Amino acid sequence: MTREELIGINAGIVRSVSSNLIEHSPNVIIIVVSNPMDTMAYLVHKSTNLPKNRIIGMGGALDSARFKYRLSEALGCPASDVNGMVIGGHSDKGMLPLIEKAVRNSVPVSEFLSEERMAQVVEDTKVGGATLTGLLGTSAWYAPGAAVSALVQAIGCDQKKMFPCSALLEGEFGLSDISIGVPCILGANGIEKIVEIELSASEKAKLIESAEGVRKTNGLLEVNA
Ligand code: LAC
Repeated sequence: MTREELIGINAGIVRSVSSNLIEHSPNVIIIVVSNPMDTMAYLVHKSTNLPKNRIIGMGGALDSARFKYRLSEALGCPASDVNGMVIGGHSDKGMLPLIEKAVRNSVPVSEFLSEERMAQVVEDTKVGGATLTGLLGTSAWYAPGAAVSALVQAIGCDQKKMFPCSALLEGEFGLSDISIGVPCILGANGIEKIVEIELSASEKAKLIESAEGVRKTNGLLEVNA
């Protein structure tokens, strides 16, 4: 099966599941997990009339968990000692682990790790999903499930926690008409705020490049629509 055919099949499922969800639960908040996730989240935005705060793409929370694991491995410390976020598209080429902003208990990880080691952490993070799929012989399920559960808890308990989620952008980060991973505050209303963090020139360039990749995949969707 070609990638285009696979996207066409997933798109059909995503359209029908979202319209059924809305029919039976008009106040639904949809968390999209199907791959290619940013494109499927975009499809839900385009094919439903739900307000944009009620459509959330899950990818960044999972990629960030993998990033924190790789950071803890490099630092030789527990993952609970590190914090870091992955934004951009949920794909090995598109994701953008924010290594410049990653910290070990508020101290930049660059205080502990060489440029080479940090580059390795970024590369290992980016291939995290593909590595697991190769090892398991199927898509990952535990980590995506745990990440979805964290998002659901933030919404259900109105926690106002920040996660990178695929959100529909309307000018934020200089991007529009695209759903892609950016920092979001999640609460009872779903995405309550997109946090436009300051990005370095290099991070900005990578986010724009990542968006171009997502747009290309969104283009395949039109072919299959
Ligand atoms: C992953 C796939 C399932 O990242 O998107 O594990």
